[in-house]
Amino acid sequence: KLSTCLATLTTAWGTAAQHPHLEEGKWKAPGADDFRGPCPMMNTLANHGYIPRDGRNITRPNIIAGLATGLNFKEPLASLMFDMAIVANPEPNATYFTLDHLNQHNVLEHDASLSRTDSYFGSNHIFNWTIYEKSKAYWTEPIITAQMLANSKLARQVESRAFNPTYRFTADTENFSLGEIAAPIIAFGDMALGEVNRTLVDYFFVNERLPAELGWHKKEVAIGVEDILKVSNMIKAATSLITGPDQSNSGNKRDLHAGIH
Ligand code: HEM
Ligand code: MG
Repeated sequence: KLSTCLATLTTAWGTAAQHPHLEEGKWKAPGADDFRGPCPMMNTLANHGYIPRDGRNITRPNIIAGLATGLNFKEPLASLMFDMAIVANPEPNATYFTLDHLNQHNVLEHDASLSRTDSYFGSNHIFNWTIYEKSKAYWTEPIITAQMLANSKLARQVESRAFNPTYRFTADTENFSLGEIAAPIIAFGDMALGEVNRTLVDYFFVNERLPAELGWHKKEVAIGVEDILKVSNMIKAATSLITGPDQSNSGNKRDLHAGIH
């Protein structure tokens, strides 16, 4: 009885008009004039109003507050991410960027994304089902491992290198890319195990929405730079196509092969 009563009250009070603060965090699809970009998480945070919903005038304080409220990122990490992002605004000494700025090809946006096609083939920032399905094919179990994420990264790179004559992927791109591939584990998964529930990741990519209705909540322990590096390094290690050390005697075999060739 009490619970029904409380539920009714919560529903009645839960309207934005009576509780304007509830507007923040409420998911809304972007409007026609809102900017969105190639980053599914920036788009998601804008859809929740954790950064400006219109995707414009995104300042350092916006990024610090948005990444703290949405994902429990520590301030130094968020601030560092802003520093890396600000080059996207072509104006000198800019203090903000827009989600549209992120679309500039080969500035931050790069080839071989998991959920967008290469600029050479089409929109580098709109979610692309065909591309996403290709990536998802490598997430072969309900729990996605660092290796499965690495596999999807490698597959997208091989496809781009084979068929996109303008394929570009520099050492800097690789570092950014490793962070992006690690991101699902960081935001929604277990950073110690290097794993994440596929259902949460899929919901996030497809809806550009935090998977709260699937039971996810942001990490209780705040995420720092060291966490990002740790998980990025897990992905990096998992991109090696070599399965492990050889059996004993292998040195001799290798020398023999080297001698023959
Ligand atoms: C991709 C910017 C924060 C998750 C991207 C891309 C950009 C970008 C430009 C496109 C790269 C490409 O071509 O694939 C930013 C900026 C951020 C930010 C400016 C904050 C200042 C985050 C955070 C997460 C995240 C906090 C999640 C924890 C991702 C993922 C991708 C991505 C998963 C890869 C999408 C794909 O491959 O299709 N980001 N990002 N980003 N970002 Fe972010
Ligand atoms: Mg891209």
